[in-house]
Amino acid sequence: MLDLPPGPKQPRYAQALQWVMRPQEFAVRQRERFGDVFTLEFIDGQPLVFLSDPEDIRTVFTGAANVMHAGAANKVLAPILGARSILLLDEAEHLRQRRLLLPPFHGERMLRYEAIMAEAAERELETWQEGETIAMLPRMQALTLEVIMRAVFGIEDGLEMERLRVLLRTMLQATTDMRQMALSLIMGPESERLQRRLREVLDPVDEELYRVIAEHRGASDLEQREDILSMLLLARDEDGEAMTDLELRDELMTLLLAGHETTASSLSWAFEQLTQRPQTLERLTEELRGGEDEAYVDAVIQETMRLRPVLPIVIRLLKEPITVGQGRFRLPAGTRVAPAIMLVHLRDDIYPEPFEFRPERFIETPPGTYTWIPFGGGMRRCVGSAFALFEMRAVLRAVLTTFDIEAVGGPERIARRSLTIVPDHGGRVRVVRRAEAVVAGAADEGALAL
Ligand code: HEM
Repeated sequence: MLDLPPGPKQPRYAQALQWVMRPQEFAVRQRERFGDVFTLEFIDGQPLVFLSDPEDIRTVFTGAANVMHAGAANKVLAPILGARSILLLDEAEHLRQRRLLLPPFHGERMLRYEAIMAEAAERELETWQEGETIAMLPRMQALTLEVIMRAVFGIEDGLEMERLRVLLRTMLQATTDMRQMALSLIMGPESERLQRRLREVLDPVDEELYRVIAEHRGASDLEQREDILSMLLLARDEDGEAMTDLELRDELMTLLLAGHETTASSLSWAFEQLTQRPQTLERLTEELRGGEDEAYVDAVIQETMRLRPVLPIVIRLLKEPITVGQGRFRLPAGTRVAPAIMLVHLRDDIYPEPFEFRPERFIETPPGTYTWIPFGGGMRRCVGSAFALFEMRAVLRAVLTTFDIEAVGGPERIARRSLTIVPDHGGRVRVVRRAEAVVAGAADEGALAL
């Protein structure tokens, strides 16, 4: 049995560049060459074993928490999210944070966020002009940031929320900028210059977060409040301990970041894919405007996330050896493995004509636990998956019941925005006001003129 699976012999800079610039083409090519299990090497020189056989995915997702470390593998996020972020922890510490974080994200709580989502979508749509061409990504980012901020902090308007919103966006611009990524790849994330630049954008955000935490702590009506921060302040672990300010800061930052960029990118892809297929768009629009088939709406979202999973891989660091590739490879402890979401989703034995956008496939066969994995899996599966799916439904509904949308150009290529993949022109669509809405608007104007 071999230790590490084979992989390309190109220099690691070349491999990293291709993975960043053309992730899908690059990964698909390696699978064609080497099979379902192959090894890539990026700038840090550490091998990363890509897995795309559902059996291997199952091995990783059902592996024991003391064997599959995700926190250690997510280390690059530490400077922003903080060392106490759920994404950075493993084993008992991870489990503790996960238990504290889960209650606000249980399915039945989603209805409480519905009003926030609908209102944020409505506000956004009020700014759209008939006939205008817009890039969905920045609009969706603004919308999803608004939603997560309100869900986390409560329905608070005013200058302070506005200040936090601006600071977060500035920080995100700075940290997801491609030049910044290139610099961090070349200089290493620990470089002093990068650290200094990061602190400049991060310090004011931290200051605001600690201020909001202190303000919430001082509130006498926490039990009555519905926001996530209030719930986290009241949450107790098995020993009856509450979360510290530092833990709260790190989890808030995690929720704010994990909770909005991903959803915004997924929504942008949904609009990009739909406008390229007018018949699918038409059917979805009909369903949303009065049809009964909620299943079709879900199938569109599932298909979007299959064909364009915004996080193309997740990573685990092995603390003990495991066997993958149908018994061919025994990976030693210390190896990093990457369940390759993007590649699993493009398997033609599971998804015939895998490159086609065809929501119907999910009506015929519901998504499988180890074959549809846009939210990762096992003990690390995305905490906010129900929230994200609920929000995607709400936004698709709001947009398509208010406007008709159509393609501006051909399909967009996959581009990178930090860890996520996005449409390279941001998902550009033309918005055309819905006929009924135009008539209602015209009637109002007429009434005013009279
Ligand atoms: C379309 C939207 C989203 C996608 C595609 C997505 C995807 C993911 C993925 C792939 C992981 C890693 C899972 C693993 O390692 O197996 C993850 C983890 C996580 N996500 Fe999401 N996510 C989305 C939205 C959200 C939202 C809305 C929130 C919260 C408001 C959220 C919070 C988290 C948290 C806290 C974790 C860490 C879980 C852990 O380590 O135990 N995500 N997400």
